[in-house]
Amino acid sequence: MRIGIIGSGHIGGTLARSWARAGHEVALANSRGPESLAGLVGEIGPNAHAATPAEAADFGEVVLLAIPFGGYEALPFDHMAGKIVIDAMNYYPERDGQIDTQTFTSSEQLALRLPAARLVKAFNTIYYETLASKGRPDAPLDDRLVIFVAGDAPDDKALVAGLIQEIGFAPVDTGSLHEGSRKQRPGSPIYNRPMHSEQAKELLPGA
Ligand SMILES: NC(=O)c1ccc[n+]([C@@H]2O[C@H](COP(=O)([O-])OP(=O)(O)OC[C@H]3O[C@@H](n4cnc5c(N)ncnc54)[C@H](OP(=O)(O)O)[C@@H]3O)[C@@H](O)[C@H]2O)c1
Repeated sequence: MRIGIIGSGHIGGTLARSWARAGHEVALANSRGPESLAGLVGEIGPNAHAATPAEAADFGEVVLLAIPFGGYEALPFDHMAGKIVIDAMNYYPERDGQIDTQTFTSSEQLALRLPAARLVKAFNTIYYETLASKGRPDAPLDDRLVIFVAGDAPDDKALVAGLIQEIGFAPVDTGSLHEGSRKQRPGSPIYNRPMHSEQAKELLPGA
């Protein structure tokens, strides 16, 4: 697939490496411009190129958002219509400033800006070093660490689940964007806690 990645730091850079290794083409973008990504792109190899955020969104059949949530208003929303958009962003008040996430979670606020996109929340609860080093593509699903997904369209979640499986993790569905994005928040019992599916099902009955 063609995957646009907006935010090429710890989480975006890690997924760019993993997906390029799995055979996908990735376009990486950050806030400082494509030139600043020459080193990372060179390291990843021919499946990667640098872009502006709008170009990365245009390029991707799937677009990963991996910037600090406080900057989400600057995202190129108009370039994501009709696409599967993966929201890996978390809200941290000390980093992102005061934003009310009680009524609408960060993902629901994003969804309001992306009504024509197909939003799936994923990769939020896994630390990037775990993501970089613990993938086991050859292991049975029950022996892999899990990555949680939430969203309103089963087909879109299934596609993202495939992108998770290819890089060696086991996808676990936490439900709709409304309920799942609450379960995947910082501070929740599944947040930043590596686990297998058996433990995930204990912590999230019905997952
Ligand atoms: N770190 C983790 O283990 C982890 C795990 C799960 C989820 N997350 C979430 O993923 C998001 C990214 O975290 P991170 O740790 O990867 O952060 P990071 O290492 O600081 O990287 C952030 C990236 O976003 C880019 N960026 C910032 N504002 C932008 C904008 N307006 N347009 C385009 N690019 C922009 C930065 O570009 P410049 O460097 O050019 O400014 C940088 O490439 C956060 O919401 C975080 O909560 C992180």
